[in-house]
Amino acid sequence: MLKYLFAKEDDIPQGTTALFFAVSSIAWFIIGTGLGSFNAAKLAFPDWYHGLYALQFGHMRQVHVHAVIFGWIAMAFAASMMYITPALGNTKLWSEKLGVWNCLLYNIGLCLALALLWTGITSGREYSDHIWPIDLYIAFVMVVPWSLNVWMTIVNRRTQGIYTSNWFFAGCMFMTIIVFLVGNLPEWFHLTGLNEAYMTWWFAHNILGLLITPVAAAITYYIVPKITGNPLYSHRVGHLHFWSIVVFYSTPAAHHLMSSPLPEWLKSFASVEGVLILVPAVAYVCNILLTMQGKWSLFVSNIEIKFTITGVLLAIPLNMQGGFQQTRAINWYIHGTGWIVAHAHLALLGFSTFAEAAAVYYGMQVLLRRKLYSASLANFHFWMLLIGFSLYWTSMTIAGLIQGAAKIYEVPYVDVVIAEHPYMIVRWLGGTMVFFGNIIWLYNMVMTARAGVVIPAGRQPVEIAYTR
Ligand code: HEM
Ligand code: HEM
Repeated sequence: MLKYLFAKEDDIPQGTTALFFAVSSIAWFIIGTGLGSFNAAKLAFPDWYHGLYALQFGHMRQVHVHAVIFGWIAMAFAASMMYITPALGNTKLWSEKLGVWNCLLYNIGLCLALALLWTGITSGREYSDHIWPIDLYIAFVMVVPWSLNVWMTIVNRRTQGIYTSNWFFAGCMFMTIIVFLVGNLPEWFHLTGLNEAYMTWWFAHNILGLLITPVAAAITYYIVPKITGNPLYSHRVGHLHFWSIVVFYSTPAAHHLMSSPLPEWLKSFASVEGVLILVPAVAYVCNILLTMQGKWSLFVSNIEIKFTITGVLLAIPLNMQGGFQQTRAINWYIHGTGWIVAHAHLALLGFSTFAEAAAVYYGMQVLLRRKLYSASLANFHFWMLLIGFSLYWTSMTIAGLIQGAAKIYEVPYVDVVIAEHPYMIVRWLGGTMVFFGNIIWLYNMVMTARAGVVIPAGRQPVEIAYTR
C-alpha cells in the first residue's frame, strides 16, 4: 500500500483502492467476530475471565459493535462501491490515490476510535458512542473522501443513465453524511434527557435504514444480474424501493423508544411508519427473486449467488419481525431482551453480511483477475456462517422470550440468568463458528491472490468459477 501513497495517479493500477478496502474488511470481520465470541463467552461463563478492566464486557461490547459496523460492514461497502461504481459507469475510479489514502486513514481512524472506546472514553450513547473529535474525523476524513470518489466517478460516467446500484450508492452516502452530522448534535450541543435519547435513536435507526439496509440491497442489485446474466427484473421497482426507503425508513426512529415518555402521537406515528417499511422491503425482495428467473440452479452451484440469495431470503423474516416487534403490545414484551439482540444479528450478521460477503468474494476475484483458490473452502465458510448465525438467532430469540416472560411475572433476576444459561452457551458456539469460518475465508483469499488460476483476459471469474 505504502508505495502507492506517493505514486502518480496514472501509476496506480485500477482497482487498488477496492482491493485494499476488501482485504481490510475481511481482517475487521475476523477481529469483530472474534471480539463478539469473546463477549459471548463472558455472558455464557461469567467467571472465566477476571483480568484487565479494559477487557470487561461493558467496554468490549461497544468495541465489538463498532468493529463489525465500521470495520467489516462499512469497509465491505467501500470496497464494493469502489469497483461497482466505475464498472456500472463504464469508466475508472475518479481517484485511486484519494482512495488509497482514504483506506489508510480509515483504518488508522478506526483503530484510534476503538482504542478510545476500549479505554472507556465514550459519549455513552449506543451506536454514536464516539467523542466529538472522532465524530469529525469519521465524517470528514473517512466518509467525505469515500463519498467524493463515488459521486465524481458517477459524474464522469460514460453511460447515459445512472444504474440502480449507483443511484443507491450516491444517495446513501449523501444521506449518511447528513445523518452523521445531525445525529451527533447531542454531543456538540450537550443535549440531555428525552431530546438526547430521541436524537441518539434517530441516528442509530437511520444509520441502519439509510446506509446499511439500502447499500446492502444495492450490492445485490449488481451481483445478481451480473452473475445470472439476467437484467434486473424492474428498474421502476428499484426506484420505488429507493424512494419508499427514504420516506418510510427515515421517520420511525421513535419505535426504538416505545416504552419511553416520548409524546404518544410520535410513538404511534413511528409504529405506523415502521409497518410501511414493508413497502420497500417487499419491492426489493420481489425484484431480486424475479431477477433469478430461470437461473435458480446457480443458488446451489455459485458461491456468490448462494451468499446473496441467502441474504435476500433472510430479509423476509427480518422485515416481518421488525414490523411485528414495534407494535406496542409486542414491543412492551420483548424490549430490552435478547430478542432484540437476535433481531440485530438477523439484520447485520444475516441479511447484510451475506450480501457483503458475496460482493467481496466476487470483487476480489475480478480485481485480482484470479479464480477462487478453493470452492470447497468457500462452501465451508458459507455453512459455518449460516449454521453459526442460525444457532445465534434461535438461542437469543428463545432467551429473549424467557426474559420477556420473567419481566412480566416478576421472576427474580438470578432465576432468569440460570434459565438462560444453556442459550448463552449455544449463542457462544454459533458465534464462534462464524469467527472460525472467517479465518478460513481469509486463508482462501490469501491463497487466491497467491495461487488462484489466472482468469484469461475478456472472461469473468463467474464463467470459469467451477471449471477445473
Ligand atoms: C420492517 C422493517 C423493520 C422494522 C419495523 C424494525 C423495527 C425495529 C424495532 C422496533 C427495533 C427496536 C426494538 C426495541 O428495542 O424495542 C429494532 C431494532 C433493531 N433493528 Fe430493526 N426493524 C426493521 C428492519 C431492520 C433492518 C432492515 C435492519 C438492518 C439491516 C435492522 C436493524 C436493527 C438493529 C441493529 C436493531 C437493534 C438496535 C438496538 O441496539 O437496540 N432492522 N428494529
Ligand atoms: C457481522 C457480524 C456481526 C455484527 C454486524 C454484529 C453486530 C452487533 C450489534 C449491532 C450488537 C448490539 C445489539 C443490540 O444492542 O441489540 C451486537 C451485540 C453483541 N454481539 Fe454481535 N455482531 C456480529 C457478530 C457477532 C458474533 C459472531 C458474535 C459471537 C457470539 C457476536 C456476539 C455479540 C454479543 C455477545 C453481543 C452483546 C449482546 C448483549 O448485550 O446481550 N456478534 N452485535
